[in-house]
Amino acid sequence: MYESLGNIRSILPSRVQNRVDAVIEAAEIFTEMKNPRVLRSMAPSAVRGLLLKVGKSGLPTEMTATHSAHFNWDYPHDHAEMHQLYERAKLGQWNGSNLAWNTSVDPLDPTLALAPLDMIDLDAAAKVGIKFAGADQQKMIYSITSWMLSQFLHGEQGALLAACQVTESVPFFDGKLYGSTQVVDEGRHVEVFHRYLSEKLGKMYPINDNLFVIIDALMTDARWDMKFLGMQIMVEGLALGAFGFLYQHTQEPLLKEMLRYVIQDEARHVHYGVLALRQHIASELSPQEKAEREDWAYEVALLMRNRFMAYEVYDEWYAGSSVTREQWRQLVLSSPGMQRFRNIMFTRLVPNIREIGLLTPRVQPYYEKAGMGQYFHGAAAPDLSGEQMLAELDRGAPAAAKGKGRRAAGG
Ligand SMILES: [Fe+2]
Ligand SMILES: [Fe+2]
Repeated sequence: MYESLGNIRSILPSRVQNRVDAVIEAAEIFTEMKNPRVLRSMAPSAVRGLLLKVGKSGLPTEMTATHSAHFNWDYPHDHAEMHQLYERAKLGQWNGSNLAWNTSVDPLDPTLALAPLDMIDLDAAAKVGIKFAGADQQKMIYSITSWMLSQFLHGEQGALLAACQVTESVPFFDGKLYGSTQVVDEGRHVEVFHRYLSEKLGKMYPINDNLFVIIDALMTDARWDMKFLGMQIMVEGLALGAFGFLYQHTQEPLLKEMLRYVIQDEARHVHYGVLALRQHIASELSPQEKAEREDWAYEVALLMRNRFMAYEVYDEWYAGSSVTREQWRQLVLSSPGMQRFRNIMFTRLVPNIREIGLLTPRVQPYYEKAGMGQYFHGAAAPDLSGEQMLAELDRGAPAAAKGKGRRAAGG
């Protein structure tokens, strides 16, 4: 089917071609999903995000939540490690208003670069037939960094609302107390990312379609553990890697300071997700329910790895021009800085999927085939605090790429 569509698209004007390409990509996502339960649970979100592009409509989005709120009138201390996290979270609070907001930021200043220039590499661009002139590369890095920070901001809004939901629905009382600190953390993250984008960069992008799909899927899923898996493990895990990448590379001092604080909060959030899910997945789920979560996690990892291609920047720079989405995709895939960015994101994510027991021998070959086998043995959240992560990033290490490797993959 796609081959014949491909033939038709070649005779269409470039603007229409690009729209057809987007629809073909959406169709590919549907056909790639192997597990029918995953397809059923993701399909409505995929239609809203990829085809209807609800996140880009310019209107507020309503997502109907159907989970139940879990009360406990005995107030038990039912999870010692979550309680410790709660104590650490109270001590780790900070005020976003106190960052050095008087720092003046020039996004095009090469001596205080926001992000590495090779994120959009000149050689890689020339190879795919995209030409840059004069300060284009610097301007493109400004666009890409603003795009990345915009996706962080949208992800943080998702995290804020998801943290409220999981605080309602989690069965552990110590988890609810801990969750109350995460709600405050996420509110503060929304505040600082939004302020940085609007006051310092003056540029913001709409939510990426794939990120919208994931947020929509977990907000509307009634099962509390799916919310945890989607937000605390997948979105937060990837975000932690992405924050680490930018923290390590940015030369802009305000952004670096902001990320230093945010990373310490996020490390606790992912740790909490691992604690909540590890035991639940091992003891509470049927084999079918567990298999569905294994496949869901893999599909989301793949969605973020293969589809998180900064198309919103492409739309800004090249929509209606002779540069195609495919050329752009190749540029993003082949630029060394973007490769390091993806690498560090999955270095953070995959060990946590292992840690909660979803990297089973059944799904490991899928990850290996998608080039993610190299991340199997890295350090998971309970073995790596925010402070340790920052120390490694400061030393220039690839954020525990090798990790401790002391646990065997599998579940
Ligand atoms: Fe956050
Ligand atoms: Fe978070």
